Amino acid sequence: MNEKNRQNIILKELQNFRDKDFTFSSGHILGSMCTQPHPIAKKAYMNFLETNLGDPELFPGTKEIETKLISFISRLLNAPKTATGLIGSGGTESNITAIWLAKNLSKKREIIIPKSAHFSFQKIASMMDIKLIPVSLNQDYIINISNIRKKINHNTAAVVGVAGSTELGTIDPIPELSEICKDEDVFLHIDAAFGGFVIPFLKELGYKIPDFDFNLKGVSSISIDFHKMGYSAIPIGALIIRNERCLDEISVKTPYISRKKQTGVLATRSGGPVAAAYAVSEYLGMEGYKDLVKRCMNTTEYTVKKINDLGLDLILKPTMNVLGIKLKNSSKVVKKLTELGWKINDMDRLSAIRIVLMPHVTKKIIDDFMPNLEKACKEIGEL
Ligand SMILES: Cc1ncc(COP(=O)(O)O)c(C=O)c1O
Repeated sequence: MNEKNRQNIILKELQNFRDKDFTFSSGHILGSMCTQPHPIAKKAYMNFLETNLGDPELFPGTKEIETKLISFISRLLNAPKTATGLIGSGGTESNITAIWLAKNLSKKREIIIPKSAHFSFQKIASMMDIKLIPVSLNQDYIINISNIRKKINHNTAAVVGVAGSTELGTIDPIPELSEICKDEDVFLHIDAAFGGFVIPFLKELGYKIPDFDFNLKGVSSISIDFHKMGYSAIPIGALIIRNERCLDEISVKTPYISRKKQTGVLATRSGGPVAAAYAVSEYLGMEGYKDLVKRCMNTTEYTVKKINDLGLDLILKPTMNVLGIKLKNSSKVVKKLTELGWKINDMDRLSAIRIVLMPHVTKKIIDDFMPNLEKACKEIGEL
């Protein structure tokens, strides 16, 4: 068999596997915080496939793109001149890096997190021998601010606030957290992996939501993901840190590559996602992202109305493009919807299902989905 035929056979085999996947383009993935990347991301990604940002002296051009991307995201988050950024694989890596930094700076081992925090903090606890101090949520599913001061003590390495929670898209009262952490001189990390590309634009669109970024003097670092609402290709997120001079705390000497020091978790890192994210950010610009958020919020409001018309209730009025629908038997409804070809998340601890109105979810998709949701709910006895 010739070389070309062998390749074709392997590619055909891969395609058969791929055909088993759900796709964003079908619109049937309603429960993911990722989306089909903008078309320009795909082209840019392919052109940078062999680049390695772990050895930037070999790829100085790709490194320049990374620097520009960090500047873009720093501007979005109102980062001061002292700030710096690390590009990583997404929210988990950024959260790991932030807590690693806070732990090394403080030499302490407890972090205070809201109960709504992403499960990456469980990994962090196990990985770094950190004790998690969970704080209850109030009736709006945000951190109970009155409990924070009581929980801060001589072991506290950091407080975490969430700006766009994974389950419901809620935003913790970051201005109050900032004040407390400033007074107590505690590192405040904001997990805006999802909300970072939403909140700044919601504000411009006139939504009344709390501040969350570096304009608040107590904020020490922020996680933000390009592969979520940044409309780019997996895997890429950024951690922006207020003070560049802390970086030594998470750097090691690298005797055998072209740079003498390396900062952050990973060594070898593809420039592909960086080029892709830069292409999308250049193409859309701040105005393009604002339009995207506006479109997602329109679809969210449309979906809320359809859900109410069906006679179902939401857990709470959505803050952003994430909805929780109350159900008695959420797992059964999710199972039924999967049989009907729709992927939606079960949040059984909240007795709810989650829909994320990402850019690939249009009003037409929602119109197609609603009869399926109704059917599933009727069969399970929710309606
Ligand atoms: C708020 C938040 N933080 C962190 C993460 C983890 O991000 P990743 O899956 O990119 O590691 C998520 C994922 O949904 C998230 O919603």
